[in-house]
Amino acid sequence: MLATNTIAEEILDLKRDRKAILLAHHYQESEIQELADSIGDSLELARKAQQFEGDVIVFCGVWFMAETAKVLNPDRIVVVPDREAGCSLVDSCPADQLKAWKHRHPDHAIVSYINTSVEVKAESDILCTSRNAVQVVNSIPAGQPILFLPDINLGNYVKQQTGRENMKIWQGACIVHATFPARRVTSAKAEHPTALVAAHPECPADVLRLADFIGSTSAIIDWCVKHPHNEFIIMTESGVRHSLERLAPEKTFHFVANEQCNCSECPYMKRNTLEKLRDCLRDLTPRVELTAELMDRARRPVERMLALR
Ligand code: 13P
Ligand code: SF4
Repeated sequence: MLATNTIAEEILDLKRDRKAILLAHHYQESEIQELADSIGDSLELARKAQQFEGDVIVFCGVWFMAETAKVLNPDRIVVVPDREAGCSLVDSCPADQLKAWKHRHPDHAIVSYINTSVEVKAESDILCTSRNAVQVVNSIPAGQPILFLPDINLGNYVKQQTGRENMKIWQGACIVHATFPARRVTSAKAEHPTALVAAHPECPADVLRLADFIGSTSAIIDWCVKHPHNEFIIMTESGVRHSLERLAPEKTFHFVANEQCNCSECPYMKRNTLEKLRDCLRDLTPRVELTAELMDRARRPVERMLALR
């Protein structure tokens, strides 16, 4: 406990000396979220990065989120505690495969989930997050064919919500959400018969069919906190427990284990630790470094998304 307090104090001192802001995604360890200037979902954190005016952004999340922050802040230093904090969705869509696809289908608008590499963003027409994906697809003229990438579950959910027939969907998946089995949700409902189910749209369609609410991480938290009900089954990464219990300590939240790790933790998000956070603030590395040309190309689709309100 004493050692942890000491590291936390070192981090706060370094953060002040470096004129740094610490942005944390909801899936980070609680001890990191407690030190953050802002906690949020991927859309909220991108908006925070867009408004930032200090020297250093410490992004406690995964690498693609930090790349987005760098694209929006090309002259600032952006660091992540662990360079290996990746994402299975990013890995599922290499930029050269997308370029080859575009060559064969030049008429399609490319709508990319923010969970993509900066190289894929640079090949995209507009980005979306789980919070605004329906709004983004609806913003594209009805006659324009779309490729939605890379998440197949989010893509199918958006297609169903928008009724968009001329939309093709890439075959990527999140190793955390896509491996939640519907039968485990059914068991959790049997065990907690009065609980309501809230699910992230990266979950498979048969899980989403069992949900009372579908939304991004922050949308799930807002819905559970404001809902008059007191008991919930949460179908997303267990890091959201931190905000749920802080904002609604009187309520009960049950998490369902997936088949990937028999847990509900993202192994990439959990690579960041307090020690690595302290070291990255001290050494200003691992640092996101991108060419100006790549950032310029990737900024257009990011800003197009952020302009939608
Ligand atoms: P949010 O957009 O809800 O923050 O989700 C990001 C993510 O990586 C989900 O797995
Ligand atoms: Fe990627 Fe899934 Fe982890 Fe989110 S939870 S960062 S989509 S692997």
